[in-house]
Amino acid sequence: MTAYLAIETSCDETAAAIVADGRKILSSEIVSQIDIHQKFGGVVPEIAARKHLETVNFIVDLAMQKASIKPEDLAGIAYTAGPGLVGTLLTGMSLAKTLAWLWELPLIAVDHLQAHIFANFIDTDLEPPFIALLVSGGHTQIIHFASYTEIKIIGETRDDAAGEAYDKVARLLGLGYPGGPIIDKLAAEGNDKAFNFPEGQVSGFDFSFSGLKTAVLRQTEKLNKPWPIEDLAASFQKAVTSVLVRKTIEAANEFKATKIVLAGGVAANRELREKLLELSPCPVYFPPISLCTDNAAMVAAAAYFVSKPVGLDATVYSRS
Ligand SMILES: Nc1ncnc2c1ncn2[C@@H]1O[C@H](COP(=O)(O)OP(=O)(O)OP(=O)(O)O)[C@@H](O)[C@H]1O
Ligand SMILES: [Mg+2]
Repeated sequence: MTAYLAIETSCDETAAAIVADGRKILSSEIVSQIDIHQKFGGVVPEIAARKHLETVNFIVDLAMQKASIKPEDLAGIAYTAGPGLVGTLLTGMSLAKTLAWLWELPLIAVDHLQAHIFANFIDTDLEPPFIALLVSGGHTQIIHFASYTEIKIIGETRDDAAGEAYDKVARLLGLGYPGGPIIDKLAAEGNDKAFNFPEGQVSGFDFSFSGLKTAVLRQTEKLNKPWPIEDLAASFQKAVTSVLVRKTIEAANEFKATKIVLAGGVAANRELREKLLELSPCPVYFPPISLCTDNAAMVAAAAYFVSKPVGLDATVYSRS
């Protein structure tokens, strides 16, 4: 058994996990800070870093206890190196470095976006090649995974990320943070043909979501209150999911992919999953809801499959 301990602190979840052979979760612990940031309408970086500092030692201890594993049975310590908030990343990295030094284990730096994709490797037999749609709070990318070493971004958003569009639209509709789960739920009750919101007109496999957000704003300015929130949510969600699904399938066809892999917080979206399953020419993989948003199990999985050991002088990187 090759087991990695992973620490994830890229944004507002403090998480630690131990995963065996990149596929089997021995423990996965998360403390979310969402309640703390909700009153600000989004994540406040300095508060997030301080909260990680308070929680991270405890979370790592808990993950080790729940996995009933001793340091000498670990193959290495993995940490999220970026992209993320610098202050929060540094907190996780500092503990990872300390443990790697203390326990004389390899230190593994993991890319957070690749980690989201490796959430799909847990409890499955997924292997490259595949086309991945990564849709999170900070990123929207279509990635061609030709093999474990040939990984190429073939399309990405030119402005807002899909999750960011959900969060901004939820905010303008007065629905709170994070917007994705709330809009997803309301959309199920609404008429998605009530409003005709535009898909961003961008060539190739790139995306644009800022025009859609403005279209929702302009529409609300024309409406009397109370706004038909469910219809607005359903029409917005239809526009987001249609373009994501269409471009992912086009990419799968162009690269003759035999698998499509969905990842990131927005991969929890009901309509996105349903549409992809219905329209995809090949099998579709997506993680359980608990592994879509930030967690450390996905970081440990990525450490096993693709990440390389780094020295104790390694560092972190911010959002790209
Ligand atoms: N059911 C859902 N439908 C749509 N969006 C959702 C759903 N559940 C969560 N989200 C969105 O997912 C995002 C959070 O995902 P994630 O944790 O992967 O992002 P992040 O870690 O902040 O960003 P990144 O991974 O790019 O650094 C939020 O924008 C949230 O609104
Ligand atoms: Mg994330």
